Amino acid sequence: MKICFTASECFPYVKTGGLGDVAGSLPKSLAGEDCEVRIFLPLYKGIKTLEHGIGSFDEIQNVPVRIGGKNVMFSVWSAILPGSEIKVYFIDCPDYFHREMPYTNDIDEDERFILFQIAVIETLQRLKWSPDIIHCNDWQTSLIPVYLKTIYKWDKLFENTKTLLSIHNIAYQGRFSRDSIYNSGLSYSEYYPGGPFELNGSFCFLKAGIIFSDLISTVSPAYSKEIQTAEFGCGLEGVLQTRSDDIYGVLNGIDDNIWNPGKDKMIPYNYTLKNIDNKLLCKKELLKEAELNFDENIPSIGIISRFAVQKGFELFYPIAEQLMKLNFQLLVLGSGENRTEDFFKGLKQSFPEKVNAYIGYNNKLAHMITAGCDIFLMPSKYEPCGLNQMYSLIYGTVPVVRKTGGLADTVADFHEYNEKGNGFSFEDFTPEVLLESIERALHIFKDSQTWKKIMKRGMKKDFTWKQSAKIYLDLYKKCRDKN
Ligand code: ADP
Ligand code: GLC
Repeated sequence: MKICFTASECFPYVKTGGLGDVAGSLPKSLAGEDCEVRIFLPLYKGIKTLEHGIGSFDEIQNVPVRIGGKNVMFSVWSAILPGSEIKVYFIDCPDYFHREMPYTNDIDEDERFILFQIAVIETLQRLKWSPDIIHCNDWQTSLIPVYLKTIYKWDKLFENTKTLLSIHNIAYQGRFSRDSIYNSGLSYSEYYPGGPFELNGSFCFLKAGIIFSDLISTVSPAYSKEIQTAEFGCGLEGVLQTRSDDIYGVLNGIDDNIWNPGKDKMIPYNYTLKNIDNKLLCKKELLKEAELNFDENIPSIGIISRFAVQKGFELFYPIAEQLMKLNFQLLVLGSGENRTEDFFKGLKQSFPEKVNAYIGYNNKLAHMITAGCDIFLMPSKYEPCGLNQMYSLIYGTVPVVRKTGGLADTVADFHEYNEKGNGFSFEDFTPEVLLESIERALHIFKDSQTWKKIMKRGMKKDFTWKQSAKIYLDLYKKCRDKN
């Protein structure tokens, strides 16, 4: 089967969160399932073309596209995704993509991704490549299903092409002013209150994609149900309910060549279930690097995250004082909202012997914290899937999470009478319950026999893409066979 995989980020070229990990790994597993996959990405300024062997694709250069009243040109670059034979096509349009970050709040944010999506379709035409499925991810690619059924309907190349839209986070919807319809080239006739393009007075890319795509998926079974409720649907629950028979939840997998304590090149010592003691050496190195004292009896707690409302860090603020009386060390890596950055900077300043916080993005440190900590914290308000808790589980770093979305699907709460727990989870989104859960974990940590059992249950989990790639393949087939 021929799959065109389109996304706004893809590891190792560009990554701001889990979507980058998914786009860089799922296609490899699909290729192992007999799919011919090609990936399409914007060529952002931050992508290091030389380092990644990305070269100009001479056949497709200076293609004119009309965005609103403007004439814009794009060209194509290409590379092979490391560790595979998958071709990656990069859409180059410096006016739009040479900005500081992949995503912006700039006034032409809509135009940037309109150009990207039109360019993907125009590139397929020039390649004369007719995919069975275009797999779209999030709002940045969710107009492609609309284009195929409207502006590009005439093209026989896409006669048998179907679309799957994966929603990684329903809170990001690509909502713009009504004028954006003009930029998109689509028809105003679909823009009316409650219509396919309209959401609360805005032109909503994601809503349009939900309506026009052949099938829809989300990144965990729990989240696929949650988003159909008012609590989690962010205003799109109604439209999702109308497509409820077409929505599937497929848990993300992980790339076990990159996230694997047995062969991870970014950690100082590798370990598996057989030489689990090496994990302690990773802890030692991590603490040395973080300038904290090493004591194997003091549990180290890790946080690696985008600092966004979604991640639930506001729960810490009221309990900080009580929390800091407990016996642990905290290693934080993240960036985003000022209030959370300031909170962790403040903790580091007030408790330099207990806390270190690196505000920024650092891939190597993410691997070191995942390997070197005893406990991983993820108190998310909502979590479509979450990769960090899965990385933690297989690195023997016991997660403490809120029971929501993918966290509920992957972390089994420890209870002294069950033999299944691989972490600690709590339901109520309150500071008190978070504190209790941390206390519970710190208490059990003292019982090293039980702790080891919990760690080992996590390490034995198979979160590789094998299973989920098969489910995607089935979805693609369902999509292909749809009328
Ligand atoms: P989300 O996509 O919502 O941010 P996920 O848990 O799915 O959450 O994925 C986050 C990914 O981004 C993980 O691979 C994590 O290690 C990485 N990450 C998040 N913040 C940082 C950071 N500051 N430095 C390095 N990696 C980070
Ligand atoms: C989003 C979600 C996260 C998920 C990731 C990859 O960023 O917030 O939960 O793991 O996408 O699907």
